[in-house]
Amino acid sequence: MNQDTMKQRAAEAALDYVEDGLIGVGTGSTVNHFIDLLATIKERIDGVVSSSEASTARLNEHGIPVLDLNIAGELALYVDGADESNHQLQLIKGGGGALTREKIVAAASRRFVCIADESKLVERLGRFPLPVEVIPMARSYVARELVNLGGTPVWREGFVTDNGNLILDVRDLEIREPIGLEQEINAIAGVVTVGLFTRRGADVLILGGPDGTRTLT
Ligand code: 5RP
Repeated sequence: MNQDTMKQRAAEAALDYVEDGLIGVGTGSTVNHFIDLLATIKERIDGVVSSSEASTARLNEHGIPVLDLNIAGELALYVDGADESNHQLQLIKGGGGALTREKIVAAASRRFVCIADESKLVERLGRFPLPVEVIPMARSYVARELVNLGGTPVWREGFVTDNGNLILDVRDLEIREPIGLEQEINAIAGVVTVGLFTRRGADVLILGGPDGTRTLT
């Protein structure tokens, strides 16, 4: 079975968590399946807070109302994908470059349901290069600081985030203490957000696989 079908299965299972009202949605190919499925029950929800321009465009195509988070207030549910999850449901996100808005919407939600294909579950975070969103003038400075932490940052050239910033993808990092590393990288001047989601990881992880889905909490 291909990876995309496994992503679709995870997205289908996440529909069971949707209640009436407002929900948050993330970004990426797994979330795209979720948005398409959400369109089939759109009468049941009041609207969606989106984490990216790409997801907003897809929601608009389906005629699903998109609300500003400042108007929406606290959300009952956030559904998003991930690049990696460990068994504590701490995540690496930002492969699609939407990490900052994703982290904001996740923080503003009572329950975070993460959907992924089973290849995303890892014993230790860090095989996937860790995305860091940076203010453009700080790119070289932040890169030097990341080298001091033992990483090898690579500028995602030609890519600008929805917030007008840049992404450094950091390889070779030993992520032994994800919570501490999230705080340490976020504290570097010029960093907007690191793609480690540990202080606010997922509450539920739905993994799609060849035999169906399994759920970790
Ligand atoms: C975007 C993300 C995505 O959730 C992550 O990259 C997973 O994407 P996909 O569902 O396409 O595998 O963090 O910033």
